[in-house]
Amino acid sequence: MPPSRQLLQTAAINRLRLRNRLVRSATWEGMCDPRGIPGEDLIDRYRQLAAGGVGLIITGFAYVAQEGKLLPGALGLQDDASARAVRQLVEVVHAAGGRICAQLGHAGGQTRRDICGTTPSLHRRCSWTSTRSSRRR
Ligand SMILES: Cc1cc2nc3c(=O)[nH]c(=O)nc-3n(C[C@H](O)[C@H](O)[C@H](O)COP(=O)(O)O)c2cc1C
Repeated sequence: MPPSRQLLQTAAINRLRLRNRLVRSATWEGMCDPRGIPGEDLIDRYRQLAAGGVGLIITGFAYVAQEGKLLPGALGLQDDASARAVRQLVEVVHAAGGRICAQLGHAGGQTRRDICGTTPSLHRRCSWTSTRSSRRR
């Protein structure tokens, strides 16, 4: 079978069944509010991707703790409220026949107070960060 046709074959990742092999790679869109709650524009973006035929959408880096937020406007999965809000993304993607999985992350010492809104964890313990004196913490 030519690769172009293979792309449109169904696939499974363990129990996750996909209608095709088109995957939207994890992409930070910066479309969430400061608590990590997805805005309408992000919900619409995911709806369009699924309606357009993408089989699996991988969310952008979703932070699992406030001090682990890497980028402004990133998706949050750090508490029950943000987890409930993310269900909206799941629902619009499923309604359009797609599947979605979350890329979970913690920025460790690679974020800054002005992005995550609190003292980044690890920053004092990571020796390499102290060499980056030009970066604000
Ligand atoms: C604006 C932008 C945001 C991205 N955000 C993430 C991200 O949150 N997590 C991640 O693992 N990769 C992220 N990436 C990397 C992409 O998922 C992808 O690996 C990269 O664009 C290369 O894809 P390509 O080989 O199809 O061009 C991002 C890329 C871009 C351009």
